[in-house]
Amino acid sequence: MEKYIINGGKALHGEVEISGAKNAAVAIIPAALMVDGVCHIENIPQISDTDMLLTILKELGAKVRFLNKSTIEIDCTHVRYQDAPYDLMRKIRASYYLIGAMLGRFGSAKTTMPGGCNFGVRPIDQHIKGMTALGADVDVKNGFVYADARDGRLHGARIYLDKVSVGATMNIILAAALAQGRTIIENAAREPHIVDLANFLNSMGADVRGAGTDTVKVNGVDRLHGGSYAIIPDQIEAGTYMVAAAATGGEVLIKNVIPRHLECISAKLRETGTIVQEYEDSVLVKGASSLRKVNIKTLPYPGFPTDMQPPMGALMCLANGTSVITEGVYDNRFKYTNELRKMGAEIQVDGRVAVIEGGKRLTGAPVHACDLRAGAAMVIAGMCATGTTVVEDVHYIERGYENFVGKLKALGADIECVDEPDESGSSDKIVCVC
Ligand code: UD1
Repeated sequence: MEKYIINGGKALHGEVEISGAKNAAVAIIPAALMVDGVCHIENIPQISDTDMLLTILKELGAKVRFLNKSTIEIDCTHVRYQDAPYDLMRKIRASYYLIGAMLGRFGSAKTTMPGGCNFGVRPIDQHIKGMTALGADVDVKNGFVYADARDGRLHGARIYLDKVSVGATMNIILAAALAQGRTIIENAAREPHIVDLANFLNSMGADVRGAGTDTVKVNGVDRLHGGSYAIIPDQIEAGTYMVAAAATGGEVLIKNVIPRHLECISAKLRETGTIVQEYEDSVLVKGASSLRKVNIKTLPYPGFPTDMQPPMGALMCLANGTSVITEGVYDNRFKYTNELRKMGAEIQVDGRVAVIEGGKRLTGAPVHACDLRAGAAMVIAGMCATGTTVVEDVHYIERGYENFVGKLKALGADIECVDEPDESGSSDKIVCVC
């Protein structure tokens, strides 16, 4: 079982290169299943979630090979319908994109219910509503999702999402791309990775319009052809290094980013007194000698991203004054605050609100990564604490951050990954969502 050992007190300095966006990659890899031809996809992040999806594709019969560290060739020309490999599917939330992709290509999908971090109830009712509107019979039984297009192929429909959902928006776009006729998704999510999925599909011959607005129109086509595409940089990975630079009082140039996608994070960091300078495809973050408190409310894009909430929570422990976080997306995303309290943080949580009394000195402690972004928050706290912090369950972190330890070490952090036998004897970890 891998753990991170962090000796705090080192400010981060230098440059870091951001990898491709996890939440785009985990939809684009399943989308390749719909392509009748060869896709070259650049900027694939080397993380366990993408490894898992590529393994699933291979088990379904796709030919997959890496052309270099971050570029893959996927050929799904000869893939024929079969049930998705359940043991792998249940380990990642993004496996839900196989429902849309398989329904679109084969008119049928049988998958497991997706796994996921426990941020409260995480239903997929809006995905199911969308697939049903497109003409599929969808049944959830014994942890499986069975979906079949009633007449063998989906048909375009008008779908109003009751909740702004990233996953449902992307899944319906996938299913609709090869449906007959026009689909209109209203109250769609607007995250940059939704635009990225639409751009990928369009470059393979789909006709998706309006991605990035709350109304997405998909004119179904008969076939998608092969092509080349490069995934956008990861907004949350970039934001995490921005917060890490601010929290440690360092100075870091964060390269390969789209500064527009980082605007709300940059704005919040500036409120703390941190200097953020934007360049064409990089941002420079200079930590302040003393941080000011801030309040945040997480919301769907372009609001403050819920995935940046735990790293910001760690930063707020260091800022002078009382900061308030309101979680506007999930019911239960404050479990990590229990871990921060072990390090001396003063945090009160009431439902979806956390009140953080900042300005306390954090001290190293053994803590857990409760999920992917919570794990990143623990690492940031550990780098700012006095003494040694041991972060356990780092397999969560490795789902979403490429070479996290290597990149932090290159910036001057005193962090090591050690591998120790798992005393519980369990090798079957359910990985989480984000
Ligand atoms: C995606 C991201 C995750 C991010 C989240 C919000 C991936 C793989 N994960 O997760 O990193 O935290 O967006 O930006 O891209 N909901 C329903 N019914 C549904 C679907 C969602 O009620 O059918 C609710 C959820 O419980 C949640 C809210 O809608 O409260 C938003 O969820 P959603 O945007 O769907 O998140 P995910 O796609 O799961």
